Amino acid sequence: MFYRKSIEQLLLEAGSSGEGHLRRSLTSFNLVALGIGAIIGAGLFSLTGIAAAENAGPAVTISFVLAAVACAFAGLCYAEFASMIPVAGSAYTYSYATMGEFTAWIIGWDLVLEYALGAATVSVSWSRYLLEFLHKYNIALPHQLAVSPWETVKLGDGTIIEGGFINLPAIFIVMLLSLVLMRGTKESATMNNVLVIVKVAVVLVFIALGWSHINPANYEPYIPANTGKFENFGWTGISTGAAVVFFAFIGFDAVSTAAQEAKNPKKGMPIGILGSLVVCTILYVLFAHVMTGLVNYKDFAGDAKPAATAFAQTGYSFLQDGLIIAILAGYTSVILVMLMGQSRVFYTMSKDGLLPSFFSSVHKKFATPWKTNVFFMFFVSIFAGFVPVSDLGHMVSIGTLFAFVLVCIGVLVMRRKLPHAVRPFRTPFVPVVPILGILVCVYLMYSLPFESWIRLFIWMALGIAIYFAYGRKNSKVREVIDEKIAE
Ligand code: ALA
Repeated sequence: MFYRKSIEQLLLEAGSSGEGHLRRSLTSFNLVALGIGAIIGAGLFSLTGIAAAENAGPAVTISFVLAAVACAFAGLCYAEFASMIPVAGSAYTYSYATMGEFTAWIIGWDLVLEYALGAATVSVSWSRYLLEFLHKYNIALPHQLAVSPWETVKLGDGTIIEGGFINLPAIFIVMLLSLVLMRGTKESATMNNVLVIVKVAVVLVFIALGWSHINPANYEPYIPANTGKFENFGWTGISTGAAVVFFAFIGFDAVSTAAQEAKNPKKGMPIGILGSLVVCTILYVLFAHVMTGLVNYKDFAGDAKPAATAFAQTGYSFLQDGLIIAILAGYTSVILVMLMGQSRVFYTMSKDGLLPSFFSSVHKKFATPWKTNVFFMFFVSIFAGFVPVSDLGHMVSIGTLFAFVLVCIGVLVMRRKLPHAVRPFRTPFVPVVPILGILVCVYLMYSLPFESWIRLFIWMALGIAIYFAYGRKNSKVREVIDEKIAE
C-alpha cells in the first residue's frame, strides 16, 4: 500500500512518445487559456450574487481575495510538482511519488468529484441559462425534459419550472464536448482558446460599460453589520462568502493534468497555473465590484443569473443576449477542460494498473484516451441529467479542497525525502506556504454543509473497496518492486 513511484520512473513515462502516448502540443499560451477556460464560469456568473446577498454584501470583493489567497497557496504547491513531474495524473501522480500507492489512489478517486462532477455542475448551470435564453424568444422546451427531478428553476420573468424528469440540455452539452475531446487535444485546445477569448471579452465589456453606471450608494455600508448569524455579513460573513466563491476558482489545477501534453512543461506549468490564477483574481474582483455597484446586494437574493440582472442597469439592453451567449460559451469551456482533466487522470491511473487498461487506450489517429472520454460521457451525463446543482456544487468544492490539502502535504514530504531533486519551480517559503494552504483549505472544507462530508466519506469508502478488489492486485509498480525483491 505504501509503494512509491520514483521520480526517474515518472519522468521516463512522461518522456515516452509515439503511438499509444499523448502528444506534446500545448504552448504556454494554450496552458494559461486552459486554466482560464476551466476557471471562469458558474462561480462568477451565478455565485457572486448569492454570496453578496447572503454573506458579504459589497465586500464580496474581499471574499474573492480571500479565496484567491487560499488557491494561491495550493497553486504554488501545484506549480512545484507540475514542473518537477510533468505527467498527466496531476495530484494523483504527485501523491504516488510522495505518499505511496494507497494515498495516490484515494486522491485519484477524489479527483472524480472535482472534474467529473465539476463538469456536471456547470452543465446544469449551462442548461439554466439556455432555458432563460430560449424562454425570451418564446421557445419552451417540455419541462419534463429540461429540468432534473428535484430541481426548481425560476426564470427571469418569474415563470417557475418545478422538477421534471431529466435535464436533457445538460446531457447534450456533456456529450457534444466529449466528442470534441475524442477528436483531438490540439483541436480541443483551439476551441477552448476561442471560447476563452469570448468569455474574457464579455467580462471586460461588463466591467468597462458597468463602471460608469455604478451608484456609490450601493456600497453603503461596504461591510454590512453581522446579523447575529455566523454566515450573515460582517467579517464572518466575508469568510463564509470566500467558501462559496471558492467554486469560482476551481479549475486552475486542471492545467497540471495537461502537463504531459505541454511542449515545455518546466516553464509552461508554473506560467499556466499561476498566470491563470492571477488573471482571474483581478477580473473577479473588478467584476464583483461593478456588479454590487450596479445593483444593491440585497436585490440579488434568489437570483440565479445576477450578472444579467446587473447588466440590465446599464441600459445597454441590446447587449443582454450577447451577454447570455457569451456566458454559455464560458460555461462550455469549463465543462470541456474539466472533462479533459478527468480523462487524463484516469488515463494515468490505468497506465499504473490501478484501473483496467480500457482507460488508457489511446486512439491511433487522434492520440486521445477516447474510451475514457466515452465512459465519462455517460457517467457525467447521469449526474448532469438527474442531480440538483447545489448538491453537485458542494461535492465538487469538498473534493477539490481535499485534493489541495494532499498536494500541500505532498510538497512538505517531497522536500524532506528528496531535498536535492531538480525543481524547475520552487514553492517559496516552505514550510509556511504549504502549511497555510492546508489550514485554509481545511477551514473552507469545514464551512461546507455536513451532507457533503457524508457524501465524501461514502464516495471514498466505495473507492477504497475498489482499490482492494482491483487496484492492489493489478498495480504495475507493485509488480516491478515485487520482482526486484524476488531477485
Ligand atoms: N471555476 C469553475 C466555475 O466557476 C468551476 O464554473
